[in-house]
Amino acid sequence: MYPERPAGIAYGGDYNPEQWPREVQEEDVALMREAGVNLVSLGLFSWALMEPAEGRYAFGWLDEIIDRLHAAGIAVDLATPTAAPPAWFVAGHPDVLPVTRDGIRIGFGGRQSACSSAPAFRAATARLVRALGEHYRDHPAVVMWHVHNEYGAPLGECYCEHSLVAWRDWLRRTYLDLGALNEAWGTTFWGQHYTEWHQIDLPGFNHTVVNPAQRLDFARFSDAEHREHYILQRDILSELTPGLPVTTNFAGTVNCKSADLWQWARELDVIANDHYLKAERPDNHIDLAMSADLARSVAGGEPWMLMEHSAGAVNWQPRNIAKRPGEMRRNSLAHVARGSDSVLFFQFRASRFGAEKFHSGMVPHAGTSSRQWREVVELGADLRRLAGVRGSRVEAEVAVVWDWESYWALELDWRPSVDLTFRERVDAFYEALWREHVTVDFVHPSADISGYRVVVAPSAYLLAESSAKNLHRYVEAGGHLLVSYFSGIVDEHDTIHPGAHPGALREVLGLSVEEFHPLREHETVAVDGFPGKIWSERVNLAGARSVRDFTGGPDAGHPAVTRHDLGAGSAWYLATAPVTGLRELLGEVLDHAGVTRPRGLPDTLELVRRGRHLFLINHGGEPVTVAGVTGTALLDGTRCDGSVTVAAGAVSVVLDDTPHQGEPG
Ligand code: GLA
Repeated sequence: MYPERPAGIAYGGDYNPEQWPREVQEEDVALMREAGVNLVSLGLFSWALMEPAEGRYAFGWLDEIIDRLHAAGIAVDLATPTAAPPAWFVAGHPDVLPVTRDGIRIGFGGRQSACSSAPAFRAATARLVRALGEHYRDHPAVVMWHVHNEYGAPLGECYCEHSLVAWRDWLRRTYLDLGALNEAWGTTFWGQHYTEWHQIDLPGFNHTVVNPAQRLDFARFSDAEHREHYILQRDILSELTPGLPVTTNFAGTVNCKSADLWQWARELDVIANDHYLKAERPDNHIDLAMSADLARSVAGGEPWMLMEHSAGAVNWQPRNIAKRPGEMRRNSLAHVARGSDSVLFFQFRASRFGAEKFHSGMVPHAGTSSRQWREVVELGADLRRLAGVRGSRVEAEVAVVWDWESYWALELDWRPSVDLTFRERVDAFYEALWREHVTVDFVHPSADISGYRVVVAPSAYLLAESSAKNLHRYVEAGGHLLVSYFSGIVDEHDTIHPGAHPGALREVLGLSVEEFHPLREHETVAVDGFPGKIWSERVNLAGARSVRDFTGGPDAGHPAVTRHDLGAGSAWYLATAPVTGLRELLGEVLDHAGVTRPRGLPDTLELVRRGRHLFLINHGGEPVTVAGVTGTALLDGTRCDGSVTVAAGAVSVVLDDTPHQGEPG
């Protein structure tokens, strides 16, 4: 359920008027109108103002602001302020303060200063959210609810006494009997056998490594506890205002490791994502694209909301590189290209005080006589021209497997190499596909993947038997699967699948791995055609054939890239991390699978089709001409008759408005 209002693409962002005197608040609304802002998020951190003392609600100040916005035609995404419990509450319930893994109870003064499992926090949340919901249920400006802020960041796991109680409960509900838990956790190892539930502790700091199955379950539990806190609020709000969508903003799909967004997505009416550039990375627009594609994927292909990004610099990275002219526009339109129906920022006006005073806003400290404000106003005009994009879908022929549980398990302690990380592999494949101008979806390995020509599984370490069967069926039915090393190794309890690696995938890949040979830091190993890094291993063929062999290192003369023709499809395997040459290898698989893509374009041009709109975003320093494009370039109103030229750093969105067969001319 996407919010009905505002129409077209939503434009605006977090708005914190409580930091400003009335005259600035009035100026803000005038500026919003100038820029075409039509949606703001209010109240995110305002619990202390909404409820200055227990049970005493004060919404008058907020009424005034919401009425002013409403009079100006600006819709409100109203937040529940539970990410900032007030000082009076924490002082009265110091036990709600979260405890870190090494046993330190955090103090008050930041945000997210209450444990999602703490009963007092849950009770106070429910009371406040009901009061807020009852007060605003009929206000015409409120078009959606925004619960909390970025669950999981910074508070992921909590090791307090309330977490311990909830953890034991969760284990009891999950395993029902202690024997099943002992079995799943492999407690015969290091003599950890439990005979009573109350013996089970939190997997806190230890002078050695804590049972990995216990830690994996604790990651599941911690995420589920935050979700419970969300659901508590969502249920109250849905009861009071059944017609309004409820969401919470993800702390960056690709960055918030602790939240399993496949699970979260089921509980949200609309997916909302935040994304901030890794400012120092020159190609950070690729990470942006990945974040957006993952947001669309967890939304099941439905349009989603970019709830936050930045107009310029952030303030929390080591070097906060400001966005250059045109960069905010490219960033914003890339999110829209990949399925967002909103462009929202943190925050409307940059703060004068507090921890984020050096963070950019749509209105910078320099005011409106600034490049940044001019770009904000121009972007508003661009988005009005793109109103027709709303609701349209992005189609992808290629999918990349992304499973948070596998991500968690892969990065626990004592793996064969510290260089084995999920993001290292997934980023490498995503970047190669991005540079090949191939749009991808992300999928859970148990999902219906039958519609994709190619599925890539980068280091899918944890793979349940049923997911492995899903991949097997996919290949037999004509799909093309590309798997990288250290995949299909363990089941959902981090127990190694029986027999030689990769236990869950031996059959579909037509091979087994006899021995792992992780490489030294910076060491490379020669493969026929490219150097490999991080990993080498001894692959024994059992149905697959070698496409390229290692020519050096511990596995010289043995397969490094293999292909197994199975049923109507093929399963490819890559036993190292190519330093160069991944694009070429991927190209072979894409060609074999019949994935068409534009050729001869610079790999700095982002090209995405959304419905009948072709987005061309030029991240390079030279103009690019793309042939075969006909339609109306919406941002400047020109016609394209067979080609379009996109200036350096510019964006073009071409609407294919030629009548198609079967449509009225
Ligand atoms: C997060 C938060 C915002 C703000 C921004 C700053 O995404 O949700 O409240 O702190 O970061 O970049």
